[in-house]
Amino acid sequence: AEDDGFQNEPLTDFSLEESRTKMQAALEEVEDQFGKEYPLLINGRAIDTKATITSRNPSHKSDSLGTVSSASADDAIDAIDAARRAFPAWSRTEPQYRAEYLELIAANMRRRRFELAAWIVFECGKPWEEADGDVVEAIDFCMYYANQMRRLAHPLHCDVPGEENVYFYRPRGTVAVIAPWNFPLAILTGMTVASLVTGNTVVMKPAEQSSIVAAKLMDVIHESGIPDGVVNFLPGIGEEVGPELVGSPDVEMITFTGSRDVGLAINETASDTDTRQKMVKRVIAEMGGKNAIIVDDDADLDEAVLGVIHSAFNYAGQKCSACSRVIVLESIHDTFVSRLVEATKALKIGPAEDPGTVVGPVIDEEAHQRILEYIEIGKEEATLALACDTSDLEDEGYYVGPHIFTDVDSTCQIAQEEIFGPVLAVIKADDFDEAITIANDTPYALTAGVFSRSPAHLNKARMEIVAGNIYLNRNITGAMVERHPFGGFKMSGIGSKTGGPDYLLQFLVPVNVTENT
Ligand code: NAD
Ligand code: ALA
Repeated sequence: AEDDGFQNEPLTDFSLEESRTKMQAALEEVEDQFGKEYPLLINGRAIDTKATITSRNPSHKSDSLGTVSSASADDAIDAIDAARRAFPAWSRTEPQYRAEYLELIAANMRRRRFELAAWIVFECGKPWEEADGDVVEAIDFCMYYANQMRRLAHPLHCDVPGEENVYFYRPRGTVAVIAPWNFPLAILTGMTVASLVTGNTVVMKPAEQSSIVAAKLMDVIHESGIPDGVVNFLPGIGEEVGPELVGSPDVEMITFTGSRDVGLAINETASDTDTRQKMVKRVIAEMGGKNAIIVDDDADLDEAVLGVIHSAFNYAGQKCSACSRVIVLESIHDTFVSRLVEATKALKIGPAEDPGTVVGPVIDEEAHQRILEYIEIGKEEATLALACDTSDLEDEGYYVGPHIFTDVDSTCQIAQEEIFGPVLAVIKADDFDEAITIANDTPYALTAGVFSRSPAHLNKARMEIVAGNIYLNRNITGAMVERHPFGGFKMSGIGSKTGGPDYLLQFLVPVNVTENT
Protein backbone atom coordinates (compact mmCIF):
# COMPACT_ATOMS: atom_id res chain seq x y z
CA ALA A 1 0.00 0.00 0.00
CA GLU A 2 1.06 3.60 -0.51
CA ASP A 3 2.70 4.98 2.63
CA ASP A 4 -0.05 7.24 3.94
CA GLY A 5 1.28 7.27 7.50
CA PHE A 6 -1.55 5.10 8.82
CA GLN A 7 -0.61 2.25 11.13
CA ASN A 8 -2.94 -0.27 12.70
CA GLU A 9 -3.21 0.03 16.47
CA PRO A 10 -1.46 -2.99 18.06
CA LEU A 11 -3.65 -5.59 19.77
CA THR A 12 -3.13 -6.18 23.47
CA ASP A 13 -0.85 -9.12 24.18
CA PHE A 14 -2.72 -10.95 26.91
CA SER A 15 0.14 -13.43 27.34
CA LEU A 16 1.81 -10.60 29.30
CA GLU A 17 0.92 -10.48 32.97
CA GLU A 18 0.82 -6.68 32.88
CA SER A 19 -1.95 -6.74 30.26
CA ARG A 20 -3.93 -9.36 32.12
CA THR A 21 -3.70 -7.30 35.31
CA LYS A 22 -4.94 -4.18 33.52
CA MET A 23 -7.86 -6.05 31.99
CA GLN A 24 -8.81 -7.67 35.29
CA ALA A 25 -8.69 -4.28 37.02
CA ALA A 26 -10.89 -2.75 34.29
CA LEU A 27 -13.42 -5.56 34.65
CA GLU A 28 -13.60 -4.90 38.39
CA GLU A 29 -13.93 -1.14 37.94
CA VAL A 30 -16.66 -1.57 35.35
CA GLU A 31 -18.49 -4.02 37.60
CA ASP A 32 -18.60 -1.28 40.24
CA GLN A 33 -20.46 0.88 37.74
CA PHE A 34 -23.30 -1.60 37.13
CA GLY A 35 -26.77 -0.17 37.70
CA LYS A 36 -26.21 3.34 36.34
CA GLU A 37 -28.62 5.19 34.05
CA TYR A 38 -27.69 6.52 30.62
CA PRO A 39 -29.71 9.30 28.96
CA LEU A 40 -30.19 10.31 25.32
CA LEU A 41 -27.99 13.20 24.19
CA ILE A 42 -29.66 15.64 21.83
CA ASN A 43 -27.98 18.92 20.96
CA GLY A 44 -25.61 18.41 23.88
CA ARG A 45 -28.49 18.04 26.34
CA ALA A 46 -28.98 14.86 28.37
CA ILE A 47 -32.58 13.63 28.22
CA ASP A 48 -34.04 10.94 30.46
CA THR A 49 -37.00 9.17 28.93
CA LYS A 50 -39.78 7.33 30.72
CA ALA A 51 -39.20 4.20 28.67
CA THR A 52 -35.85 2.51 29.23
CA ILE A 53 -33.82 -0.42 27.93
CA THR A 54 -32.35 -2.66 30.61
CA SER A 55 -28.99 -3.90 29.54
CA ARG A 56 -28.16 -7.49 30.55
CA ASN A 57 -25.03 -9.57 30.69
CA PRO A 58 -25.48 -12.54 28.32
CA SER A 59 -22.87 -14.52 30.32
CA HIS A 60 -24.97 -14.16 33.51
CA LYS A 61 -28.51 -13.37 32.48
CA SER A 62 -29.67 -12.29 35.92
CA ASP A 63 -27.07 -9.47 35.99
CA SER A 64 -28.45 -6.13 34.96
CA LEU A 65 -25.71 -3.75 33.80
CA GLY A 66 -27.72 -0.55 33.81
CA THR A 67 -30.62 1.20 32.12
CA VAL A 68 -30.52 3.29 29.00
CA SER A 69 -33.16 5.79 27.94
CA SER A 70 -35.23 4.53 25.05
CA ALA A 71 -36.09 7.20 22.48
CA SER A 72 -39.56 7.74 21.04
CA ALA A 73 -40.38 8.84 17.49
CA ASP A 74 -40.67 12.42 18.85
CA ASP A 75 -37.15 12.19 20.28
CA ALA A 76 -35.98 11.02 16.85
CA ILE A 77 -37.54 14.14 15.29
CA ASP A 78 -35.73 16.32 17.88
CA ALA A 79 -32.42 14.55 17.23
CA ILE A 80 -32.76 14.99 13.46
CA ASP A 81 -33.62 18.64 13.99
CA ALA A 82 -30.54 19.15 16.20
CA ALA A 83 -28.33 17.49 13.59
CA ARG A 84 -29.80 19.68 10.84
CA ARG A 85 -29.20 22.84 12.81
CA ALA A 86 -25.61 21.84 13.51
CA PHE A 87 -24.94 21.06 9.84
CA PRO A 88 -24.15 24.51 8.38
CA ALA A 89 -21.34 25.27 10.83
CA TRP A 90 -19.96 21.74 10.94
CA SER A 91 -19.99 21.31 7.17
CA ARG A 92 -17.97 24.52 6.87
CA THR A 93 -15.43 23.43 9.49
CA GLU A 94 -12.12 22.79 7.74
CA PRO A 95 -11.63 19.08 6.94
CA GLN A 96 -8.27 19.32 8.70
CA TYR A 97 -10.02 20.25 11.99
CA ARG A 98 -12.67 17.60 11.53
CA ALA A 99 -9.86 15.06 11.07
CA GLU A 100 -8.27 16.30 14.29
CA TYR A 101 -11.51 15.59 16.17
CA LEU A 102 -11.25 11.97 15.01
CA GLU A 103 -7.70 11.80 16.28
CA LEU A 104 -8.87 13.16 19.63
CA ILE A 105 -11.61 10.53 19.76
CA ALA A 106 -8.98 7.86 19.00
CA ALA A 107 -6.72 9.24 21.75
CA ASN A 108 -9.60 9.09 24.25
CA MET A 109 -10.26 5.49 23.25
CA ARG A 110 -6.60 4.56 23.69
CA ARG A 111 -6.65 6.06 27.16
CA ARG A 112 -9.85 4.14 28.03
CA ARG A 113 -9.20 1.00 26.01
CA PHE A 114 -9.37 -1.53 28.87
CA GLU A 115 -12.49 0.09 30.29
CA LEU A 116 -14.18 0.01 26.86
CA ALA A 117 -13.11 -3.59 26.29
CA ALA A 118 -14.46 -4.54 29.73
CA TRP A 119 -17.88 -3.08 28.88
CA ILE A 120 -17.87 -5.07 25.62
CA VAL A 121 -17.07 -8.25 27.58
CA PHE A 122 -19.97 -7.67 29.95
CA GLU A 123 -22.60 -6.27 27.62
CA CYS A 124 -21.98 -8.37 24.51
CA GLY A 125 -20.40 -11.54 25.93
CA LYS A 126 -17.20 -11.05 23.90
CA PRO A 127 -14.12 -12.87 25.14
CA TRP A 128 -11.13 -10.66 26.05
CA GLU A 129 -9.14 -10.82 22.83
CA GLU A 130 -12.18 -10.17 20.67
CA ALA A 131 -13.29 -7.28 22.87
CA ASP A 132 -9.81 -5.79 22.64
CA GLY A 133 -9.94 -6.23 18.84
CA ASP A 134 -13.25 -4.33 18.79
CA VAL A 135 -11.65 -1.32 20.53
CA VAL A 136 -8.57 -1.50 18.32
CA GLU A 137 -10.71 -1.50 15.17
CA ALA A 138 -12.63 1.54 16.44
CA ILE A 139 -9.33 3.40 16.95
CA ASP A 140 -8.18 2.33 13.48
CA PHE A 141 -11.37 3.64 11.87
CA CYS A 142 -10.80 7.07 13.46
CA MET A 143 -7.17 7.30 12.41
CA TYR A 144 -7.68 5.87 8.93
CA TYR A 145 -10.70 8.02 8.03
CA ALA A 146 -8.91 11.11 9.38
CA ASN A 147 -6.09 10.34 6.94
CA GLN A 148 -8.43 9.63 4.07
CA MET A 149 -10.29 12.90 4.59
CA ARG A 150 -7.05 14.86 4.47
CA ARG A 151 -6.38 13.21 1.10
CA LEU A 152 -9.88 13.98 -0.22
CA ALA A 153 -9.70 17.58 0.97
CA HIS A 154 -7.31 18.47 -1.85
CA PRO A 155 -9.35 19.72 -4.81
CA LEU A 156 -8.46 18.38 -8.24
CA HIS A 157 -7.63 20.94 -10.92
CA CYS A 158 -7.97 20.49 -14.66
CA ASP A 159 -7.24 23.88 -16.19
CA VAL A 160 -6.92 24.77 -19.87
CA PRO A 161 -6.10 28.20 -21.31
CA GLY A 162 -9.14 30.42 -20.67
CA GLU A 163 -10.81 27.97 -18.29
CA GLU A 164 -10.21 26.88 -14.71
CA ASN A 165 -11.78 23.72 -13.38
CA VAL A 166 -11.87 22.56 -9.83
CA TYR A 167 -13.36 19.29 -8.59
CA PHE A 168 -14.06 18.91 -4.87
CA TYR A 169 -16.38 17.27 -2.35
CA ARG A 170 -19.20 18.50 -0.15
CA PRO A 171 -20.98 16.65 2.66
CA ARG A 172 -24.50 15.32 2.14
CA GLY A 173 -26.31 16.54 5.28
CA THR A 174 -27.79 14.58 8.17
CA VAL A 175 -26.85 10.92 8.47
CA ALA A 176 -28.80 8.34 10.45
CA VAL A 177 -26.32 5.76 11.71
CA ILE A 178 -28.02 2.47 12.60
CA ALA A 179 -25.73 -0.17 14.08
CA PRO A 180 -25.69 -3.84 15.18
CA TRP A 181 -24.56 -5.21 18.57
CA ASN A 182 -21.88 -7.68 17.45
CA PHE A 183 -19.10 -5.10 16.98
CA PRO A 184 -20.67 -2.71 19.46
CA LEU A 185 -17.86 -0.18 19.43
CA ALA A 186 -16.04 -0.69 16.13
CA ILE A 187 -18.97 -0.61 13.72
CA LEU A 188 -20.84 2.20 15.48
CA THR A 189 -17.62 4.23 15.63
CA GLY A 190 -16.71 3.55 12.00
CA MET A 191 -20.07 4.64 10.59
CA THR A 192 -20.25 7.67 12.91
CA VAL A 193 -16.75 9.05 12.40
CA ALA A 194 -16.91 8.52 8.64
CA SER A 195 -20.04 10.69 8.63
CA LEU A 196 -18.39 13.31 10.86
CA VAL A 197 -15.08 13.67 9.13
CA THR A 198 -16.81 14.21 5.79
CA GLY A 199 -18.72 17.15 7.32
CA ASN A 200 -22.09 15.49 7.90
CA THR A 201 -23.97 15.58 11.19
CA VAL A 202 -25.24 12.45 12.87
CA VAL A 203 -28.09 10.78 14.69
CA MET A 204 -26.50 7.71 16.23
CA LYS A 205 -28.87 4.81 16.85
CA PRO A 206 -27.11 1.80 18.44
CA ALA A 207 -28.50 -1.72 18.76
CA GLU A 208 -30.66 -2.25 21.81
CA GLN A 209 -28.37 -5.03 23.11
CA SER A 210 -25.27 -2.82 23.17
CA SER A 211 -26.70 0.50 24.32
CA ILE A 212 -24.24 1.02 27.20
CA VAL A 213 -21.16 0.50 25.03
CA ALA A 214 -22.75 3.04 22.69
CA ALA A 215 -23.28 5.45 25.61
CA LYS A 216 -19.58 5.09 26.40
CA LEU A 217 -18.78 5.94 22.78
CA MET A 218 -21.01 9.02 23.03
CA ASP A 219 -19.07 9.97 26.15
CA VAL A 220 -15.73 9.54 24.35
CA ILE A 221 -16.98 11.67 21.44
CA HIS A 222 -18.33 14.32 23.81
CA GLU A 223 -14.96 14.41 25.63
CA SER A 224 -13.31 15.34 22.33
CA GLY A 225 -15.18 18.67 22.51
CA ILE A 226 -17.17 18.19 19.33
CA PRO A 227 -19.84 20.95 19.01
CA ASP A 228 -23.33 20.23 20.34
CA GLY A 229 -25.76 18.74 17.85
CA VAL A 230 -23.04 17.34 15.56
CA VAL A 231 -23.54 13.86 17.08
CA ASN A 232 -26.83 13.04 18.77
CA PHE A 233 -27.24 9.86 20.77
CA LEU A 234 -30.54 8.11 20.16
CA PRO A 235 -30.69 4.65 21.75
CA GLY A 236 -34.05 2.98 21.32
CA ILE A 237 -36.01 0.11 19.88
CA GLY A 238 -35.32 -0.29 16.15
CA GLU A 239 -38.95 -0.81 15.21
CA GLU A 240 -39.97 2.33 17.15
CA VAL A 241 -37.39 4.95 16.17
CA GLY A 242 -36.06 3.32 13.00
CA PRO A 243 -38.99 4.20 10.72
CA GLU A 244 -38.84 7.87 11.79
CA LEU A 245 -35.10 8.03 11.13
CA VAL A 246 -35.30 6.28 7.78
CA GLY A 247 -38.50 7.94 6.56
CA SER A 248 -37.71 11.50 7.64
CA PRO A 249 -37.55 14.01 4.79
CA ASP A 250 -34.78 15.71 6.76
CA VAL A 251 -32.34 12.80 6.66
CA GLU A 252 -30.12 12.71 3.59
CA MET A 253 -28.32 9.44 4.23
CA ILE A 254 -28.78 6.22 6.17
CA THR A 255 -25.79 4.12 7.01
CA PHE A 256 -26.86 0.77 8.37
CA THR A 257 -25.14 -2.43 9.42
CA GLY A 258 -27.26 -5.38 10.49
CA SER A 259 -29.46 -8.16 9.21
CA ARG A 260 -30.58 -8.61 5.64
CA ASP A 261 -34.29 -8.24 6.39
CA VAL A 262 -33.89 -4.95 8.22
CA GLY A 263 -31.40 -3.67 5.64
CA LEU A 264 -33.75 -4.43 2.75
CA ALA A 265 -36.69 -2.82 4.58
CA ILE A 266 -34.60 0.30 5.19
CA ASN A 267 -33.58 0.42 1.54
CA GLU A 268 -37.22 0.19 0.50
CA THR A 269 -38.48 2.85 2.93
CA ALA A 270 -35.64 5.21 2.04
CA SER A 271 -36.47 4.95 -1.66
CA ASP A 272 -40.06 6.04 -1.03
CA THR A 273 -39.59 9.75 -1.73
CA ASP A 274 -41.45 12.24 0.45
CA THR A 275 -42.55 15.42 -1.35
CA ARG A 276 -40.83 17.49 1.38
CA GLN A 277 -37.53 15.76 0.72
CA LYS A 278 -34.79 17.80 -0.94
CA MET A 279 -32.38 15.03 -1.79
CA VAL A 280 -32.63 11.42 -2.95
CA LYS A 281 -31.52 9.44 0.09
CA ARG A 282 -28.29 7.54 -0.01
CA VAL A 283 -28.36 4.14 1.72
CA ILE A 284 -25.38 2.12 2.80
CA ALA A 285 -26.49 -1.28 4.07
CA GLU A 286 -23.91 -3.81 5.24
CA MET A 287 -25.81 -7.06 5.83
CA GLY A 288 -25.37 -10.75 6.60
CA GLY A 289 -23.40 -13.64 5.20
CA LYS A 290 -23.40 -17.41 4.76
CA ASN A 291 -19.68 -17.72 4.39
CA ALA A 292 -17.86 -20.81 3.14
CA ILE A 293 -14.37 -22.21 3.49
CA ILE A 294 -13.24 -24.77 0.91
CA VAL A 295 -10.79 -27.45 2.07
CA ASP A 296 -8.95 -28.83 -0.94
CA ASP A 297 -7.62 -32.40 -1.08
CA ASP A 298 -3.99 -31.22 -0.79
CA ALA A 299 -4.63 -28.68 2.01
CA ASP A 300 -2.52 -28.56 5.17
CA LEU A 301 -5.18 -30.08 7.40
CA ASP A 302 -3.68 -28.77 10.64
CA GLU A 303 -3.97 -25.24 9.32
CA ALA A 304 -7.39 -25.88 7.81
CA VAL A 305 -8.84 -27.26 11.05
CA LEU A 306 -7.54 -24.28 13.04
CA GLY A 307 -8.72 -21.78 10.42
CA VAL A 308 -12.20 -23.27 10.24
CA ILE A 309 -12.59 -23.50 14.02
CA HIS A 310 -11.41 -19.95 14.55
CA SER A 311 -13.72 -18.62 11.82
CA ALA A 312 -16.77 -20.65 12.82
CA PHE A 313 -16.75 -20.66 16.62
CA ASN A 314 -14.86 -17.63 17.98
CA TYR A 315 -17.37 -15.21 19.52
CA ALA A 316 -19.84 -18.10 19.18
CA GLY A 317 -20.08 -17.57 15.42
CA GLN A 318 -21.70 -14.17 15.85
CA LYS A 319 -19.78 -12.33 13.16
CA CYS A 320 -21.11 -11.46 9.74
CA SER A 321 -17.74 -12.75 8.50
CA ALA A 322 -17.99 -16.09 10.34
CA CYS A 323 -17.69 -19.41 8.54
CA SER A 324 -20.95 -21.33 8.60
CA ARG A 325 -20.24 -23.75 5.74
CA VAL A 326 -17.15 -25.82 5.16
CA ILE A 327 -16.92 -27.50 1.77
CA VAL A 328 -14.56 -30.46 1.83
CA LEU A 329 -13.18 -32.49 -1.08
CA GLU A 330 -14.41 -36.06 -0.90
CA SER A 331 -11.00 -37.78 -0.65
CA ILE A 332 -10.07 -36.03 2.60
CA HIS A 333 -13.57 -35.49 3.95
CA ASP A 334 -13.63 -38.15 6.66
CA THR A 335 -10.11 -37.39 7.94
CA PHE A 336 -10.85 -33.66 8.04
CA VAL A 337 -14.18 -34.10 9.82
CA SER A 338 -12.77 -36.37 12.51
CA ARG A 339 -9.92 -33.89 13.20
CA LEU A 340 -12.32 -30.96 13.16
CA VAL A 341 -14.66 -32.64 15.63
CA GLU A 342 -11.83 -33.60 18.01
CA ALA A 343 -10.29 -30.10 17.95
CA THR A 344 -13.65 -28.40 18.46
CA LYS A 345 -14.32 -30.49 21.57
CA ALA A 346 -11.27 -28.82 23.15
CA LEU A 347 -12.67 -25.28 22.89
CA LYS A 348 -13.34 -23.64 26.24
CA ILE A 349 -16.95 -22.55 26.56
CA GLY A 350 -17.88 -20.20 29.37
CA PRO A 351 -18.50 -16.69 30.64
CA ALA A 352 -16.81 -14.00 28.56
CA GLU A 353 -15.02 -12.46 31.54
CA ASP A 354 -13.01 -15.67 32.13
CA PRO A 355 -9.66 -15.12 30.40
CA GLY A 356 -9.48 -18.59 28.80
CA THR A 357 -12.95 -18.53 27.23
CA VAL A 358 -13.08 -18.97 23.45
CA VAL A 359 -16.81 -19.58 23.00
CA GLY A 360 -18.84 -17.22 25.16
CA PRO A 361 -22.62 -16.91 25.30
CA VAL A 362 -24.86 -15.78 22.44
CA ILE A 363 -26.28 -12.32 22.74
CA ASP A 364 -29.78 -12.85 24.16
CA GLU A 365 -32.78 -15.08 24.69
CA GLU A 366 -34.10 -14.50 21.17
CA ALA A 367 -30.77 -15.49 19.57
CA HIS A 368 -30.53 -18.53 21.86
CA GLN A 369 -33.98 -19.66 20.80
CA ARG A 370 -33.35 -19.05 17.08
CA ILE A 371 -30.07 -21.00 17.11
CA LEU A 372 -31.63 -23.93 18.97
CA GLU A 373 -34.43 -24.00 16.38
CA TYR A 374 -31.86 -24.17 13.57
CA ILE A 375 -30.12 -27.03 15.39
CA GLU A 376 -33.44 -28.92 15.41
CA ILE A 377 -33.85 -28.21 11.68
CA GLY A 378 -30.28 -29.44 11.15
CA LYS A 379 -31.10 -32.72 12.88
CA GLU A 380 -33.89 -33.26 10.33
CA GLU A 381 -31.79 -32.22 7.35
CA ALA A 382 -28.35 -33.73 8.09
CA THR A 383 -26.21 -35.76 10.49
CA LEU A 384 -25.24 -34.20 13.81
CA ALA A 385 -21.51 -34.95 14.13
CA LEU A 386 -20.87 -32.86 17.25
CA ALA A 387 -22.97 -31.07 19.84
CA CYS A 388 -20.85 -29.48 22.58
CA ASP A 389 -22.72 -29.70 25.82
CA THR A 390 -23.53 -26.53 27.75
CA SER A 391 -26.16 -27.91 30.13
CA ASP A 392 -24.08 -26.90 33.19
CA LEU A 393 -24.24 -23.27 32.02
CA GLU A 394 -27.90 -23.26 30.99
CA ASP A 395 -29.26 -21.46 34.05
CA GLU A 396 -26.42 -18.96 34.05
CA GLY A 397 -26.54 -17.41 30.58
CA TYR A 398 -27.42 -17.82 26.92
CA TYR A 399 -24.98 -20.55 25.98
CA VAL A 400 -24.98 -22.71 22.85
CA GLY A 401 -22.00 -25.00 22.34
CA PRO A 402 -20.45 -25.50 18.89
CA HIS A 403 -22.48 -27.83 16.68
CA ILE A 404 -21.17 -29.53 13.53
CA PHE A 405 -23.46 -31.11 10.94
CA THR A 406 -22.21 -33.43 8.21
CA ASP A 407 -23.95 -34.91 5.13
CA VAL A 408 -25.40 -31.47 4.48
CA ASP A 409 -26.91 -30.81 1.08
CA SER A 410 -26.14 -27.32 -0.23
CA THR A 411 -29.84 -26.57 -0.65
CA CYS A 412 -30.69 -27.27 3.03
CA GLN A 413 -31.89 -24.48 5.27
CA ILE A 414 -28.80 -24.79 7.49
CA ALA A 415 -26.65 -24.37 4.37
CA GLN A 416 -28.56 -21.38 3.00
CA GLU A 417 -29.76 -19.22 5.91
CA GLU A 418 -27.67 -17.08 8.23
CA ILE A 419 -27.93 -18.71 11.69
CA PHE A 420 -25.54 -16.30 13.45
CA GLY A 421 -24.40 -18.79 16.04
CA PRO A 422 -21.86 -21.60 16.49
CA VAL A 423 -23.41 -23.98 13.95
CA LEU A 424 -21.30 -25.30 11.10
CA ALA A 425 -22.52 -27.23 8.05
CA VAL A 426 -20.02 -29.57 6.37
CA ILE A 427 -20.74 -30.17 2.69
CA LYS A 428 -18.94 -32.76 0.56
CA ALA A 429 -17.71 -31.86 -2.96
CA ASP A 430 -16.50 -34.27 -5.68
CA ASP A 431 -13.84 -31.88 -6.96
CA PHE A 432 -12.57 -28.31 -6.65
CA ASP A 433 -14.89 -26.97 -9.40
CA GLU A 434 -17.91 -28.36 -7.61
CA ALA A 435 -16.64 -26.87 -4.34
CA ILE A 436 -16.59 -23.40 -5.91
CA THR A 437 -20.07 -23.88 -7.35
CA ILE A 438 -21.35 -24.83 -3.89
CA ALA A 439 -19.51 -21.92 -2.23
CA ASN A 440 -21.24 -19.50 -4.61
CA ASP A 441 -24.65 -21.10 -4.21
CA THR A 442 -26.22 -18.73 -1.64
CA PRO A 443 -27.82 -15.30 -1.91
CA TYR A 444 -24.92 -13.78 0.08
CA ALA A 445 -21.43 -12.65 -0.95
CA LEU A 446 -19.49 -11.50 2.09
CA THR A 447 -16.43 -13.58 3.03
CA ALA A 448 -15.01 -16.87 1.75
CA GLY A 449 -11.84 -18.89 2.19
CA VAL A 450 -9.81 -21.69 0.65
CA PHE A 451 -7.19 -23.99 2.12
CA SER A 452 -5.15 -25.47 -0.73
CA ARG A 453 -1.54 -25.99 -1.78
CA SER A 454 -2.39 -25.87 -5.48
CA PRO A 455 -1.49 -22.51 -7.12
CA ALA A 456 -3.94 -23.28 -9.93
CA HIS A 457 -6.80 -23.82 -7.48
CA LEU A 458 -5.92 -20.72 -5.47
CA ASN A 459 -5.95 -18.75 -8.69
CA LYS A 460 -9.29 -20.19 -9.68
CA ALA A 461 -10.63 -19.20 -6.27
CA ARG A 462 -9.37 -15.62 -6.73
CA MET A 463 -11.20 -15.38 -10.04
CA GLU A 464 -14.38 -17.33 -9.40
CA ILE A 465 -15.43 -17.14 -5.77
CA VAL A 466 -18.25 -14.66 -5.38
CA ALA A 467 -17.49 -12.80 -2.14
CA GLY A 468 -16.31 -9.36 -1.08
CA ASN A 469 -13.42 -10.67 1.03
CA ILE A 470 -11.63 -13.84 -0.09
CA TYR A 471 -9.01 -15.33 2.23
CA LEU A 472 -6.49 -17.94 1.07
CA ASN A 473 -4.90 -20.34 3.57
CA ARG A 474 -6.05 -18.42 6.68
CA ASN A 475 -9.13 -17.76 8.75
CA ILE A 476 -11.88 -15.62 7.21
CA THR A 477 -12.66 -13.24 10.10
CA GLY A 478 -10.79 -10.32 11.62
CA ALA A 479 -10.46 -7.93 8.69
CA MET A 480 -8.03 -5.11 9.51
CA VAL A 481 -8.61 -1.51 8.57
CA GLU A 482 -6.71 -0.53 5.40
CA ARG A 483 -5.10 -3.98 4.96
CA HIS A 484 -8.40 -5.78 4.39
CA PRO A 485 -11.12 -3.28 3.33
CA PHE A 486 -14.28 -5.09 4.39
CA GLY A 487 -17.73 -5.61 2.89
CA GLY A 488 -19.81 -7.71 0.57
CA PHE A 489 -22.34 -7.54 -2.23
CA LYS A 490 -25.37 -9.54 -3.51
CA MET A 491 -27.57 -9.85 -0.39
CA SER A 492 -24.61 -9.02 1.88
CA GLY A 493 -24.71 -5.34 1.20
CA ILE A 494 -24.82 -2.18 -0.76
CA GLY A 495 -21.99 0.21 -0.28
CA SER A 496 -18.30 0.07 -0.58
CA LYS A 497 -15.85 -1.32 1.87
CA THR A 498 -15.37 -0.10 5.42
CA GLY A 499 -11.75 0.69 6.24
CA GLY A 500 -10.98 1.05 2.54
CA PRO A 501 -10.07 3.90 0.20
CA ASP A 502 -13.55 4.35 -1.35
CA TYR A 503 -15.59 4.34 1.85
CA LEU A 504 -15.70 8.07 2.58
CA LEU A 505 -16.75 8.93 -0.98
CA GLN A 506 -20.20 7.60 -0.20
CA PHE A 507 -20.69 10.33 2.40
CA LEU A 508 -19.83 13.09 -0.05
CA VAL A 509 -21.22 14.73 -3.17
CA PRO A 510 -18.69 15.71 -5.83
CA VAL A 511 -18.95 19.20 -7.31
CA ASN A 512 -17.11 20.66 -10.29
CA VAL A 513 -16.74 24.43 -10.70
CA THR A 514 -15.75 25.82 -14.10
CA GLU A 515 -14.64 29.44 -14.45
CA ASN A 516 -14.22 31.18 -17.77
CA THR A 517 -11.03 33.26 -17.24
P1 NAD B 1 -30.58 -6.15 13.19
O1 NAD B 1 -30.84 -5.96 11.74
O2 NAD B 1 -31.57 -6.88 13.98
O3 NAD B 1 -30.42 -4.72 13.90
C1 NAD B 1 -29.49 -3.77 13.43
C2 NAD B 1 -29.97 -2.39 13.82
O4 NAD B 1 -31.17 -2.09 13.11
C3 NAD B 1 -30.29 -2.22 15.29
O5 NAD B 1 -29.84 -0.96 15.74
C4 NAD B 1 -31.80 -2.27 15.32
O6 NAD B 1 -32.38 -1.58 16.41
C5 NAD B 1 -32.13 -1.56 14.02
N1 NAD B 1 -33.47 -1.81 13.49
C6 NAD B 1 -34.27 -2.87 13.72
N2 NAD B 1 -35.44 -2.71 13.07
C7 NAD B 1 -35.36 -1.52 12.42
C8 NAD B 1 -36.25 -0.81 11.56
N3 NAD B 1 -37.45 -1.29 11.25
N4 NAD B 1 -35.84 0.37 11.05
C9 NAD B 1 -34.61 0.85 11.34
N5 NAD B 1 -33.75 0.23 12.16
C10 NAD B 1 -34.12 -0.95 12.68
O7 NAD B 1 -29.12 -6.81 13.30
P2 NAD B 1 -28.32 -7.26 14.60
O8 NAD B 1 -28.98 -8.46 15.19
O9 NAD B 1 -28.07 -6.09 15.47
O10 NAD B 1 -26.91 -7.68 13.98
C11 NAD B 1 -26.65 -8.92 13.41
C12 NAD B 1 -26.73 -8.85 11.89
O11 NAD B 1 -25.82 -7.85 11.42
C13 NAD B 1 -26.29 -10.15 11.22
O12 NAD B 1 -27.15 -10.40 10.15
C14 NAD B 1 -24.88 -9.82 10.71
O13 NAD B 1 -24.47 -10.58 9.62
C15 NAD B 1 -25.04 -8.37 10.36
N6 NAD B 1 -23.75 -7.67 10.34
C16 NAD B 1 -23.21 -7.33 9.13
C17 NAD B 1 -21.96 -6.72 9.08
C18 NAD B 1 -21.33 -6.34 7.76
O14 NAD B 1 -20.35 -5.59 7.77
N7 NAD B 1 -21.83 -6.80 6.63
C19 NAD B 1 -21.26 -6.47 10.25
C20 NAD B 1 -21.86 -6.83 11.47
C21 NAD B 1 -23.10 -7.44 11.50
N1 ALA C 1 -14.89 -6.88 10.10
C1 ALA C 1 -15.25 -8.03 10.85
C2 ALA C 1 -14.44 -9.24 10.49
O1 ALA C 1 -13.75 -9.21 9.51
C3 ALA C 1 -16.70 -8.31 10.71
O2 ALA C 1 -14.52 -10.22 11.16
